[in-house]
Amino acid sequence: MKDLVFSGVQPTSDIHLGNYIGALKQWTAIQNNHRCLFCIVDLHAITVPQEPKELRENILDAAAAYLAAGIDPKRSTIFVQSEVPEHAELGWILGTVTKMGELERMTQFKDKSGKGGAERASAGLFTYPALMAADILLYDTSAVPVGEDQMQHLELTRVIARRFNERFGNTFQVPAALIQKHGARIMSLQDPSKKMSKSDPSELSKILLSDDADTIRKKIMRAVTDTEGGVSYDPDRKPAIANLMTIFHHATGKTMKDIEGEFEGKGYGDFKKALAEALIEHMAPVTKSYHEYRDNPNALHKLLDAGRETAQALATEKMKLVRQRVGLGR
Ligand code: TYM
Repeated sequence: MKDLVFSGVQPTSDIHLGNYIGALKQWTAIQNNHRCLFCIVDLHAITVPQEPKELRENILDAAAAYLAAGIDPKRSTIFVQSEVPEHAELGWILGTVTKMGELERMTQFKDKSGKGGAERASAGLFTYPALMAADILLYDTSAVPVGEDQMQHLELTRVIARRFNERFGNTFQVPAALIQKHGARIMSLQDPSKKMSKSDPSELSKILLSDDADTIRKKIMRAVTDTEGGVSYDPDRKPAIANLMTIFHHATGKTMKDIEGEFEGKGYGDFKKALAEALIEHMAPVTKSYHEYRDNPNALHKLLDAGRETAQALATEKMKLVRQRVGLGR
């Protein structure tokens, strides 16, 4: 059997360029030579409050985004996490082999619990990584393509898998993270020290899959740049331009060297204009097909039904073994 790849996105709001470059674009390349499961992780989404009606719409938005990015449902399985209840069940079990101290170290928890701190955050947000480990381990995943912000969760997943295997006998494959060289961490267009994030209140900080050409142009032209001029790739000294160059690289396929050569002696204004046009050209077909898929919810439901069947069959088998190993039930 081909190595299995698993990954997911939370259906919390519009997919942004960070998700697209860091995850979705990477997935479409991998599906050519791997068996892939791409999940819409709605159980993770509810670790912070969601409006129920909106959540259901966001699930379909995510499915349309996966397809628009190029996930081919003939080759890859797209499904909704909560529709395969074994995710929640295994999440619970893995929570019992995960240590409080390990969860306390997770930076995503610290970031997301925000102003209210741990005291006010949901217990689900705290145990989030155990559920994420369940998503991955349930399918004997060998590789997980993600952005850099998920590395820590992946590391913990590996620890949990090894610990479970030691305690209960070899049950889970220990997965590897797949991280891209450029684009694993797309930064905010307004603050290159922060990652581009769905929860950022500044609209100008992120480009959304649903943005039209004028909006993309406006956001790129208003992106912050560095005080030191010159289009050269130096993430430490010039983080803003390095981020924009990374986006340019993904939009055009050009290397950093090519980009430096092309804009030698030119200013940030020229570079941004070229970037805006390149990004619009790259994103236009994706955005167009996103709207086409999204306008046909029946087709999306059919696809997610089929995905659920495929994932469910695999999950059922694995959980039989897990329950037996742990000694659950009779
Ligand atoms: P989520 O929904 O926050 O993000 C989805 C994917 O997008 C990547 N990403 C980025 N990549 C580059 N630059 C950015 N600014 C950026 N922002 C987000 C994320 O790294 C991720 O790959 N916990 C996960 C969802 C999840 C999951 C899983 C992933 C649940 N179970 C199992 C893989 C396997 C999350 O919150 O992703």
